[in-house]
Amino acid sequence: MKNFKAFLPFLATIVAFPSCDSGAPQASQDTIQEVLLTRRSIRKYKSEVPSRDTLEMIFKAGIYAPSALNKQPWEVRVVDNPELVKRFKDAIVAANPDAPGDSFRGATVLVFIANDLSNQYSEFDCGLLSENVMLSAHGLGVGSVCLGTPVRLLRAARGDAEVDALMDRLAFSNGYELFMCMGLGYPDETPAVKPRDETKVRFVE
Ligand SMILES: Cc1cc2nc3c(=O)[nH]c(=O)nc-3n(C[C@H](O)[C@H](O)[C@H](O)COP(=O)(O)O)c2cc1C
Repeated sequence: MKNFKAFLPFLATIVAFPSCDSGAPQASQDTIQEVLLTRRSIRKYKSEVPSRDTLEMIFKAGIYAPSALNKQPWEVRVVDNPELVKRFKDAIVAANPDAPGDSFRGATVLVFIANDLSNQYSEFDCGLLSENVMLSAHGLGVGSVCLGTPVRLLRAARGDAEVDALMDRLAFSNGYELFMCMGLGYPDETPAVKPRDETKVRFVE
């Protein structure tokens, strides 16, 4: 799909009309399949920052992810202010001098996801939210990458005054802990598909 705006009517439908009298809203299977199969992790971004309207659509789709007992055991923080984005990136590099470069991979929007430590399904549910975010973003022409490295580096840097100040600024609730990061932004590359092992799925007769 060259023009992802073709996906907008579907997104608008699921966001605006989560249910209707005739049952669940239907989206074109071809469109969904195309979005699923063409998403790639993006590690090179244009400088333009996605608008708040676009980001709000993306994160609305995120929280429509299923979760066990609908507990929604996630908290999400989105950093789209370029100065604060730079502060996070600089703080991680300064506190981890041996780590290579920008662990957010050039993304212009930083996403921090914390999970409810008291919920046994929270990691799974945060994964579902993350995938909704990445697919919705892709449908809107916004690239994404799921990122474990900044989580590891931020954890390793606790005690550093600047990192602690920035983590406080995320203000996750008590009982929640940073679990995963993501980067978003407009793609400045078109990576090839990474191979998939189709033998991982077997039909059992
Ligand atoms: C839990 C998780 C953590 C990841 N952490 C990183 C990371 O720290 N840095 C990075 O560049 N990519 C990271 N990725 C992206 C994967 O490398 C990527 O999804 C995988 O190679 C498949 O490529 P694709 O997303 O383009 O299909 C992560 C993905 C997941 C699901």
